[in-house]
Amino acid sequence: MTVESPTEKAITPSVGLLGWYSVCASQLLKQNELYHLSMYNEPLVIYRDKENKPRCIKDSCPHRSASFRGGESKNGEIICPYHGARYTTSCNQDGFDRITCNHIVDSDYDNFAKYLHLRQYPCVEQGDYIYIYYTGEAKTSPNDFKINSELEPSLPETYGFDLADSKFEEVFIDFKCDWSRIIENHLDILHIFWLHGNTLPGNDVNRETIKSFNQTINKDQYHLRSVYNEKGNKKEEFISQIFIPPGRVIIFKGSPEQARYVQVLDHIPLAHNRARIIVRHYRKFLKNKFLCKLLLFKQRQQQVFYKIFSEDYLVLQTQTFNEQMGYMHQGQNKLLAEDKMIKHFWDWHQQSIEKESPWTIHPTSAHTNTIHQDMLMVYPPANPQLSHDVQRIIDRKVAVRLFSIVIIILAFIFAPNLVQQIKSGNDSIPMVETQE
Ligand code: FES
Ligand SMILES: [Fe+2]
Repeated sequence: MTVESPTEKAITPSVGLLGWYSVCASQLLKQNELYHLSMYNEPLVIYRDKENKPRCIKDSCPHRSASFRGGESKNGEIICPYHGARYTTSCNQDGFDRITCNHIVDSDYDNFAKYLHLRQYPCVEQGDYIYIYYTGEAKTSPNDFKINSELEPSLPETYGFDLADSKFEEVFIDFKCDWSRIIENHLDILHIFWLHGNTLPGNDVNRETIKSFNQTINKDQYHLRSVYNEKGNKKEEFISQIFIPPGRVIIFKGSPEQARYVQVLDHIPLAHNRARIIVRHYRKFLKNKFLCKLLLFKQRQQQVFYKIFSEDYLVLQTQTFNEQMGYMHQGQNKLLAEDKMIKHFWDWHQQSIEKESPWTIHPTSAHTNTIHQDMLMVYPPANPQLSHDVQRIIDRKVAVRLFSIVIIILAFIFAPNLVQQIKSGNDSIPMVETQE
């Protein structure tokens, strides 16, 4: 069965492509480190200021436009690698919340350097994520932004998931393909059974169990939500997905209140055909920290994700290619009933592109210097280095654990004999009588 168009009235979410993006997991943004990314082709840097607050700046020094790549962040100051200009939030002479140059080799600091301000985007930390409010035009003070949509809480607990009863792991990964293709992938329920069927643990999601679902879709200003029920079982939610524009998707296996498997996927449009995803995976089993470490749960989880993303990657690249070469247009795709969410996403995406044209703000061309794009990529699945590194860590740690167990067993076997021998050795040592 194919779907021509959603039957619901077109109240797509009003939040568009410009707005609040979750761009980094809090734990990745360390004091005294620079975190590079880009948004819609524009290179950016995130770091922590001296109050530990996250700051997002355009990656361009106002002195002579050098990137901060190779520069430093020290005690909340950011230092340009080219001529050593130091920028800090402490110099607020002529404005609030500016990041101002407080040192550069110049004989006339007061008339020149103190007017050097970094351009930035509003940046906040919430729920262990760093969010930026991206508009395409960085300004010298976050107070100069007109913020059109508040940062609404949108984590699993917002929808009824019991956070106290769970733990999460995070992975992030970069793709060389169109940003929106990855969101589509995460809204495509059937491919989970087929493409990832042999990789996912669990008995009810694999190639043998692929089936058609009943689906209910709800839309409002902030969400696009879909609940899938098995046919004939209206009460139990099999999977529910929530798309929170512009870049977040939450997938609950089961209803949010009872889900044992939850993923939060944040999609970041780094550049033309380059996208980053942060995956936060919640689980309710094996919560003991010590056991998790002992069983290397984090690394094993990473391996599963790298495998899943490698499976997706080939498809995403070929879809991107076919679309961009004009071999296939969205309108020609024959969607299934289960693909309704994808159609809703397309409608929202198309409307937002027409309204905001984010890709035209910092356009790329054949002559674009790709230095930022090339240095940004952390782990395109085409390069399995990270996966190998994680496997090496697992092998090494497993070997250490086995070795320790063998040592302990040997100690149990030989220690009593050894003690006995020492004792009997002591007995056989002749006593030397001291003479007065
Ligand atoms: S370009 Fe940054 S200090 Fe000169
Ligand atoms: Fe996938």
